[in-house]
Amino acid sequence: MKDDMLLWDETLFKDPEVFELDYVPEHFDHREAQMKSLRFCVRPAIRGARPVNALCLGPPGTGKTTAIIKLFEEIEKHTRSVITVHINCQIDGTRYSIFSRIYKKIFGVAPPSSGISFKRLFDKIANELASREAVLIVALDDVSYLFPEKEIDQILYTLLRSHESLPGFRAGVMAAHSEPSMKYILDPRVESVFRPEEILFPPYKRDEIFAILSRRAQLGFYPGVLSQDVLDLVVDLTTESGDLRVGIDLLKRAGMEAERRASRSISEEDVRRAFSSSRFLHIEHAIRSLSGDERTLLRIIAEQPGGKAQSGELYRTYHGITQAGYTKFYEILKRLEALRLVETSFTGPGMRGRSRIIRLRCDPAEVITRVKE
Ligand SMILES: Nc1ncnc2c1ncn2[C@@H]1O[C@H](COP(=O)(O)OP(=O)(O)OP(=O)(O)O)[C@@H](O)[C@H]1O
Ligand SMILES: [Mg+2]
Repeated sequence: MKDDMLLWDETLFKDPEVFELDYVPEHFDHREAQMKSLRFCVRPAIRGARPVNALCLGPPGTGKTTAIIKLFEEIEKHTRSVITVHINCQIDGTRYSIFSRIYKKIFGVAPPSSGISFKRLFDKIANELASREAVLIVALDDVSYLFPEKEIDQILYTLLRSHESLPGFRAGVMAAHSEPSMKYILDPRVESVFRPEEILFPPYKRDEIFAILSRRAQLGFYPGVLSQDVLDLVVDLTTESGDLRVGIDLLKRAGMEAERRASRSISEEDVRRAFSSSRFLHIEHAIRSLSGDERTLLRIIAEQPGGKAQSGELYRTYHGITQAGYTKFYEILKRLEALRLVETSFTGPGMRGRSRIIRLRCDPAEVITRVKE
């Protein structure tokens, strides 16, 4: 056997974990300014006061989740009187499930599975925080999943106004949203107390992507697996896609392509082949999480000319197929929006009044093939 060939039980991956999407990197460079702003928000909590609320804004893959997790690690190392809870709102999307997570973090066990009322759950949390004299910081990550049914208003109300009746209750919120700004209009009763410090996460530049991916590849692959030229190609494709996560996924898939050929190194061809999947990472991931009804509406939108249509027309088509009512239609639309698959905008106050336009945010053909799978 030639020695550039891989034996069947050999691998190119020194540490495959580093290419997983939930891996928290040890080195988190290029985000010093954002980390500084986040630390500033937390400072009052370290002194036992309510922290400044924060809102991390920026496109996918710009380090918002990583920044919050790193910050929480720092806080926990530093003090026990600040309790941090990271909530993935795509998984925990209701006030009850979010406070169950908070309960679990504080008590180390989940609330009784027989179920207790929200009030009891909240009272236990508030009493425990008061007796420990602790401040609570809750990260609402991917907060757009709390927009349907206005769940966000209730949650912020409970976290940020409870101190009015329970003076020992001190909590702050760090929200993360994968958009340049938050368009959701909060209930005025929470708007007046949330007023977050907005922390912007711009897309990484090419040299930053290069540095991050190069370090990740060094950790993940054995020496000699990824040449400089091939890394350059990965970096170009990642910069083009604008999402660092695509680059990390691309490294992993390209490594697997090379292994499939039993080669000891990754070629440009491996990268190009892998890119045909990695570039659609976001769409694939989002579509996999959809229910049957959600897929139907997404397919209808994708089939409209130019992938866009007026909301009224879409509703009529959707109703014709599923018999679903407007409320259901609207909830599904909100979810597709939270998943960044569609965006809504209003036409100006023209002759026909304001009407809502729904537009697909990705290539219709790519969506159609995937909803049918
Ligand atoms: N500065 C950095 N250094 C090293 N790795 C990074 C850096 N920023 C982001 N990453 C990596 O990129 C991936 C995406 O980062 P992260 O999940 O923090 O993005 P995000 O802004 O939360 O994206 P989304 O809006 O989609 O939730 C993660 O795997 C993370 O490890
Ligand atoms: Mg995130």
